[in-house]
Amino acid sequence: MLKSIKSYNISGAECLPIIEGGKGVGVTTGVTAGHFAKAGAVGTFSGVNADWIDHNGNYIPLEYKTNTRREKHEELISYSIKGGISQAKIAHDISSGKGRIHMNVLWEMGGAERVLQGILEGSKGLIHGITCGAGMPYRLSEIAEKYHVHYYPIVSSMRAFRALWKRSYHKAVSLLGGVVYECPWRAGGHNGLSNAEDPNAYEDPYPRVAEIRTFMNSVGLNHVPIVMAGGVWNLEEFEHWLDNPEIGPVVFQFGTRPMVTQEYPIHDSWKKRLLTLKKGDVYLNRFSPTGFYSSAVENDFIRELKGREIRQVEYRSKPADEFTCEIPFGQRGRVVYIKAEDKAKVDSWIAAGHTEGMKTPDETLMFVDKSKAAQIVTDQIDCMGCLSQCRFSNWSDKAEMNYTTDRKADPRSFCIQKTLQDVRQGIDIENQLMFSGHSAYRFATDSFYADGFVPTIQQLVDRIMQGK
Ligand SMILES: Cc1cc2nc3c(=O)[nH]c(=O)nc-3n(C[C@H](O)[C@H](O)[C@H](O)COP(=O)(O)O)c2cc1C
Ligand code: SF4
Repeated sequence: MLKSIKSYNISGAECLPIIEGGKGVGVTTGVTAGHFAKAGAVGTFSGVNADWIDHNGNYIPLEYKTNTRREKHEELISYSIKGGISQAKIAHDISSGKGRIHMNVLWEMGGAERVLQGILEGSKGLIHGITCGAGMPYRLSEIAEKYHVHYYPIVSSMRAFRALWKRSYHKAVSLLGGVVYECPWRAGGHNGLSNAEDPNAYEDPYPRVAEIRTFMNSVGLNHVPIVMAGGVWNLEEFEHWLDNPEIGPVVFQFGTRPMVTQEYPIHDSWKKRLLTLKKGDVYLNRFSPTGFYSSAVENDFIRELKGREIRQVEYRSKPADEFTCEIPFGQRGRVVYIKAEDKAKVDSWIAAGHTEGMKTPDETLMFVDKSKAAQIVTDQIDCMGCLSQCRFSNWSDKAEMNYTTDRKADPRSFCIQKTLQDVRQGIDIENQLMFSGHSAYRFATDSFYADGFVPTIQQLVDRIMQGK
């Protein structure tokens, strides 16, 4: 064991300095969180559309009884609350009172506050902390106070934490369990890169975390741990962070590495894929319907989206300036106008089978084949309002916005709810979104995983505590 790896008081109990990174949809569950806690660490189940497991341990699928996306959104919220409560109970039972149980939610998920409050209301005493990212969760501290749980904002810069602190968190100091720094260039899932930051210019987390620590100390948060997340493979590589006043108390969050454990509910084909990834197979993209950057494995799904980006041209509904070249659009024999110089490109896409033009919110036409076009339209119609606002379907959960973003639905994105549900079940994973951290290539070279070894969560925690 590394000498300076210490236990910390996390969410009110002495724990190993290891936190399971929460992962939706249904990747971290009551089972995975319970096992992390049982091993003396912090387990984090996802409260994002969690599966509902009844008292007899049976999975109750969500079968929509209504038709409109607004009604389905309501069904999804009430299901998610039941689901989250059931996962909290499972986690609690497995943990046998050891470690701590956290719940992860996305501030930008549809009905986030209602889901969060509903789950906390129905699982009092079972959940010790909430981690919350994606967006600026100003109201998180207030909700944490109401239910007496610790809270852990996920930020990617000092500025983001400072804004949260100044606006609301300074009013709820005692329950601030930690500040999660999630490296926006390395972490799996959605990434908090700001518009000013270059996705191709990686920045070392050390000075960024030290900056957060300096700010935290300046407002009296010297004792509050920072949770380092994103690109953490082992603790040996972070030895210089330990017992270091520039960093202060620090614990580590693991998102990608626990995915290859026996207890993880993802399909074997996904685990196998993780074990064979090479450097460069995971990279940042900007296709998510949330509008955030995200990190995923390159596969046919990502290649298809990249193709859609390429196969687009600007158009106008009426002839204007250089937009003089008429092309047919849609079933009803209407026309739109593109630049003459773009005509050859469009012809070549059509010749290659990408015959269907679809309008985007940026006055471009994007070309896909017939079956993809039909799939896009079906997925948009099937929307159940899982996000607070969705670029793909133009859904918004705000009544005052009349439940729409008021922008055209964007066919260059996708339904994240559908693909994340399918990937964990192993349905055609090459054609689904496979979120992953950038260090996933290390599975292939780390001797711990030789011959396809898949550890238990306990074995992984032991290994991490050895610094390896
Ligand atoms: C498949 C996957 C799904 C994720 N889903 C979420 C999520 O729903 N909410 C969240 O806050 N973070 C999510 N994350 C981020 C993790 O919680 C964690 O912070 C991150 O993976 C840490 O970086 P690492 O992958 O390098 O270990 C996800 C990560 C992965 C790999
Ligand atoms: S289209 Fe899919 S991702 Fe977008 S809000 Fe609807 S269910 Fe969610």
